[in-house]
Amino acid sequence: MATTKREYGKITGKETLGLFAVVLMMPIMQVLRLLRKPFVEWDRVRSWRRVKAEGGFGYAVSVMNAYQLQFVDGSSQKVYEKWAPTEGVKVDVEKIGDSGAQLLWATPRGRKRVIVYFHGGGYVLPTPPFTLSFWNRVTKALNEKGKDVGLAFLEYSLVPKETYPVPMKQTIAMIKHLISAGTKPEDIFLVGDSAGAALILQVVSQILHPIPDIPSVDFQSSKLGAIILISPFVTFDNNSPSWAENGRKDIFPPSFFTHLSGLVKPDIPESQTAYAEAVKAPEGWFKDVDILVSRAFITAGANECLRDDITKFAEAFKEVHSNASFTVIPRGTHNEPYGTFVANEPDKGEWPPRITEWLAEGML
Ligand SMILES: *[C@@H]1O[C@H](CO)[C@@H](O)[C@H](O)[C@H]1NC(C)=O
Repeated sequence: MATTKREYGKITGKETLGLFAVVLMMPIMQVLRLLRKPFVEWDRVRSWRRVKAEGGFGYAVSVMNAYQLQFVDGSSQKVYEKWAPTEGVKVDVEKIGDSGAQLLWATPRGRKRVIVYFHGGGYVLPTPPFTLSFWNRVTKALNEKGKDVGLAFLEYSLVPKETYPVPMKQTIAMIKHLISAGTKPEDIFLVGDSAGAALILQVVSQILHPIPDIPSVDFQSSKLGAIILISPFVTFDNNSPSWAENGRKDIFPPSFFTHLSGLVKPDIPESQTAYAEAVKAPEGWFKDVDILVSRAFITAGANECLRDDITKFAEAFKEVHSNASFTVIPRGTHNEPYGTFVANEPDKGEWPPRITEWLAEGML
């Protein structure tokens, strides 16, 4: 990797050739993974489709760097604009003032409640399309229950275009924007996975322990409806036991997390580690989070690298929030609830209804 500052999604000639090699090798790597499936304990329990899809992602991120992935994936807005017609969604992009962030709407604006989705990708990569499908499905199911729920995807700025704490500032601007447009805090639901979930935690930390010079937001006597944190990226380290135990089982290899961390971490002042790496927060850091958020739902996969870090964070969080639920999903990999979407399984499985039910319980 070059140490000079690079541009988002710009790749060299050599990296372009590398992409051709990936395309040629991909089917071979997937076939090898499928041939191995019956003999590998953690693959044996999964569907062929799932193993093929995970094999593809795992291979791609093990041989491509972040800039190549940015080049291939484009921006979150591009992914959304391509995805929207496939689900009959009308494209509606709403800029959040001059923050540089925008809301990509999947429903008409102005419904009573709104779910805002924060994608992962280590603060470096844009959203994949399948997570948009997951949250669209959950939102539709809530509306079928008569809950009057809107859905928007937050497009925050990515590294290297912008660095910490820009996404945190953009999120706070977005929350203020929704409130000034008439949405009550208790009708706002922040949901995210991986770095997106960690970004939600950055904002929670900023409200609890405001960093001077960074805006905060005051919910008055109200609080957010809920937060959902799927496999939150709570550390840039890779030294808890689950990294060694699950390095080969997880959808992504440890080297991928380390690569992304290496691009993000240098811009985070050491004094602000607790904001960006929730597992390193001092004891009692999240005390009073129950005044800010009514309910919290946290998941980790039993077979993911981050499992032990997420567990440590979630246990600390549960200590200070009586409505926080934490689930380690048996045999789950990173962002397990999306697994059936990653593999494009015809049956979407238990997770969309489970998350729908959990959200519905708080929407009285
Ligand atoms: C727990 O959730 C309920 C809504 O389901 C809410 O009324 C209550 O205030 C929450 N408790 C805390 C500690 O936030």
